[in-house]
Amino acid sequence: MSTEIYAPGLEGVVAGETAISTVEGGLCYRGYPITELAEKTTYEEVAYMLLHGELPRPAELEAFRQRLERHRQLPDALLRFFRALPPDTPMMDVLRTSVSLLTHFDPDYHRWPKEPTAPAALALVQDLLSKISERLLAQMAAAIAAYFRISRGLEPLAPKSGLSHAAQFLYQLTGEVPDDPAVRAFDVSLILYAEHEFNASTFTARVITSTLSDPYSAIVGALGALKGPLHGGANEHVMPFLRRIATPERVEEHLQAMLARKERVMGFGHRVYKTGDLRATILSTWAARLAQSRGETQWEVIAQRVEEYLRTTKNLHPNLDWPAGRLYYYLGLPISLYTPIFAASRVAGWCAHIREQWQANRLIRPRARYIGPPLRLVPPLQERV
Ligand code: CMC
Repeated sequence: MSTEIYAPGLEGVVAGETAISTVEGGLCYRGYPITELAEKTTYEEVAYMLLHGELPRPAELEAFRQRLERHRQLPDALLRFFRALPPDTPMMDVLRTSVSLLTHFDPDYHRWPKEPTAPAALALVQDLLSKISERLLAQMAAAIAAYFRISRGLEPLAPKSGLSHAAQFLYQLTGEVPDDPAVRAFDVSLILYAEHEFNASTFTARVITSTLSDPYSAIVGALGALKGPLHGGANEHVMPFLRRIATPERVEEHLQAMLARKERVMGFGHRVYKTGDLRATILSTWAARLAQSRGETQWEVIAQRVEEYLRTTKNLHPNLDWPAGRLYYYLGLPISLYTPIFAASRVAGWCAHIREQWQANRLIRPRARYIGPPLRLVPPLQERV
């Protein structure tokens, strides 16, 4: 019998190797500190690096941008599906089904090998994964914007040539390109959301890939994991929570009551970071800046008082979802889009992990500790009462 480790929630378990990112000593993507990336790069550069291993040279970045622009075109069938959906279908559900549907219209997926275990198939798989990843990067962002418009009785917008990924998303959503500070704040949020080691959704994608299933199935699974309020769903709770508190004077009383009821404050705490999340610190500065320029500083005052209370009473620190929920609100984005935006960014990390899993695959199949009834015999049907 091999040595068994019992770790509910896989807490503290190192479940595989990765060269994509680490949270040890501060988050780094492929060796670059997240602070540097948030200051000096754009989301496209980060996504390219996650997918292809290195930061792009200028010509590589330009070619990558052009490919993304081409891939933003959505199949008519997807737009027809959006028009047929019942009103108020949640955006994460729509996105999950959209990715599943896009499978059938991807010419590269039609070349997916029938026998992916054959050694000769591996080079083809890597080539197809590279193409499929880029397509998903563009199409998920475009799909969120298109469904948002259709659900409000508006026509989807064709992409505007020459815009960055961040600006293009905001344009396809609203029909307007916001000012530079707004676009840059949004871009930084996408950089910070792009990748995070073996989090629940990425691990889900790796588990699915480890069976040698296809990348679309892996992304659909990852979307399902991200949707939960303990993961990506937390950013949608931030503004409703601040609105419920309403004034700074009510912070302590409100939190005391919540904690007494054992309720969780969404956007606080982390499985790995126990002394603070660097991503939250970076994005908080951007959220505060936008709040100032939009004349919405009342939420920042309440937010700071919440942070102070939770740090001193529970040693709890904000995670990235805390400033992101506020920043997206200051950008005028509807709350229902916050987790889908997280997904549209994180798809870069998911796809990088899917490629890496293929490079050195081992089926992910842990054991369970059995706590059911002891061994017993099956009673005949008539004797069961
Ligand atoms: N609000 C109130 N109490 C909390 C919170 C919170 N957000 N997070 C942890 N705690 C308490 C928890 O009740 C427990 O207290 P006690 O020891 O008195 O019972 C203690 O802190 C340890 O909690 P835990 O559940 O063992 O910690 P975990 O590592 O399992 O939880 C977490 C990590 C993210 C699930 C949790 O912090 C949480 O539920 N946070 C709220 C949801 C959230 O913000 N999720 C976004 C995660 S980061 C973005 C992403 O990558 O998706």
